Amino acid sequence: MIHEKMQEALNQQLNKEFYSAYFYLGMVDYFSHLDLEGFAHYFRVQVQEERDHALGFFNYLLKTGCPVQLPSIAQPPQNFNSPLNVFELALHHEEFVTQSIYSLMDVAQEVRDHQTQVFLQWYITEQSEEEDNMTRVYNRLKLAGNEGSGLFMIDNELAQRLYTPAVIPGVTLII
Ligand code: FEO
Repeated sequence: MIHEKMQEALNQQLNKEFYSAYFYLGMVDYFSHLDLEGFAHYFRVQVQEERDHALGFFNYLLKTGCPVQLPSIAQPPQNFNSPLNVFELALHHEEFVTQSIYSLMDVAQEVRDHQTQVFLQWYITEQSEEEDNMTRVYNRLKLAGNEGSGLFMIDNELAQRLYTPAVIPGVTLII
C-alpha cells in the first residue's frame, strides 16, 4: 500500500502534468495565430507528451490501488510578448516540473517506497530531456532573433518534431 503522503504527492503531480498540457496548448494557440505553424506543431507534440506524462501518473495511481483526485486545472497564460518570451516561460516551467519530480522522489525515499522510486526514475530522465529541448530552442532564438529569416528557419526546423508515445515502465498509457 502506497503511503498517504506519497499518494497526495502523486495526485498533485497528476494535476501538474495536465496543467502542463494546458500550458502548452496556450502556446499552440499563440503561434497558430501568428501563422508560425512549425512552432505551433512543436507545442502540439509537447501537449501530447504532457498528456502521456499525466496518464503515467493516473495509471500508476490506479495500478497501486490509490484514490485518484481530479481537481480543476488552473488557467494557463495566453498572452506572450514574443517567441523568445514563450520559450523563456516554457524553460522555466520545465525547471519547475523537474524540481517537483525531485520532491516526489524525496517523499518516496522518506517513506521508503522503492516501487515508486523506480517509477519516478523514468520522469527524472525525461525531465532532463525536456529541459535540454527547451534550452536548445531558447538559445537558438536568442541568436537568430525574434523575427526575419532566422525565425522562419527555426519555424521550419520545429515543424519536423516527431511525437513518440512515452513508454513508462510498468504503466500502460491506454485509457
Ligand atoms: Fe511533464 Fe514537461 O513535464
